[in-house]
Amino acid sequence: MELEENIIISKIQGYYTAYLMYVACELNIFDYLYNENISINDLSKKINIPRDKTYRLIRPLVANSFINEKDELLSLTKLGQRLSEYDQKSLKGFVLFNGRECMTCWSYMYEALIKNIYPFKLLSENDFFDAQVLDDNKFDNFNLMMRSSSKNMNLNPYLEQQHNKDDKLKIVDLGGGAGDIISKFLMYYHNSSGTIIDLEHVRKEAEHNIRQYELADRCIFVSGDFFTGLNIEGDIFILSRIIHDWEDEDAINILKNVKNNMDEHSRLLIIEKIIPEKIEKKNLYLYMNDLHIWSMCGGKERTKKEFIDICLESGLILNEIYKLANFEYILEFQKDYYEEGVL
Ligand SMILES: C[S@@+](CC[C@H](N)C(=O)[O-])C[C@H]1O[C@@H](n2cnc3c(N)ncnc32)[C@H](O)[C@@H]1O
Repeated sequence: MELEENIIISKIQGYYTAYLMYVACELNIFDYLYNENISINDLSKKINIPRDKTYRLIRPLVANSFINEKDELLSLTKLGQRLSEYDQKSLKGFVLFNGRECMTCWSYMYEALIKNIYPFKLLSENDFFDAQVLDDNKFDNFNLMMRSSSKNMNLNPYLEQQHNKDDKLKIVDLGGGAGDIISKFLMYYHNSSGTIIDLEHVRKEAEHNIRQYELADRCIFVSGDFFTGLNIEGDIFILSRIIHDWEDEDAINILKNVKNNMDEHSRLLIIEKIIPEKIEKKNLYLYMNDLHIWSMCGGKERTKKEFIDICLESGLILNEIYKLANFEYILEFQKDYYEEGVL
């Protein structure tokens, strides 16, 4: 096959591998093999799939370096371990969420673009987060994926530059979800207290995790909607992976609500990916992620300028940007007193 043909065919058939990983996760194949060497026969019985089909699933998983095979005995590679729920840094929830929710949305990208309505909404007639209120399974799938990302997020490049870890701060995490992000802040700011604000259906999961992190005496969950006015004091407000879920108009509404609760000492920390202005091959992941976030929520990834612009319009000015890993940043904002006519 000529090079161009090869590239095009392997890219369009990329979904084969995505579906294969998803199916293997649904069948718990990586969990059965975690710390165990199992024969194809035994695996076929455990997953309740005929031996010949099991073998045909296993072959490409071996060729893709997820599984080792020697004399018909199977074991996990390092890559395969990350797809087991038993792994400390498991990505199984991420794969399941993609297979159960996102891949269907992407398959409607064409119709959605033509109709100018984002794929999730085209398919379900509900917004992404409203659908989670109505359907526990959708919340569970999303929560598993979100937690695998939030638990693994390394905030040290930001925290290590703060010199006030003994201070008694009030930290407010808006749309804080299961609480993995605010917990990292509270473990660092060991005298501080925290509030997670999120929709009521998230309460049970958040309160459970706060107890797991042994932070129940310093962190509470408050049910609230970041669109309809908030009334809470805070030294640090966090919006982690919230703004990219929304178009500019909604994002500005959220930001204005936060700003109205800030005083001159408060800081707003926006945790998001930032898209560089110039199109470059190395940023392919970001461009695809931008389409992905549109397909699920109707939102978008933004450039630094786009963040500054929507924040300025909301009465917030940029103080500092901290680089985390995986294209992720913390953008620190404060209230713009000039905009309010005070300065
Ligand atoms: C992408 S998740 C981010 C979770 C968390 N901040 C993190 O980084 O792990 C978005 C969160 O926003 C919450 N959310 C969506 N709409 C909301 C609303 N109107 N008011 C408050 N929270 C909302 C969702 O329930 C979800 O927990």
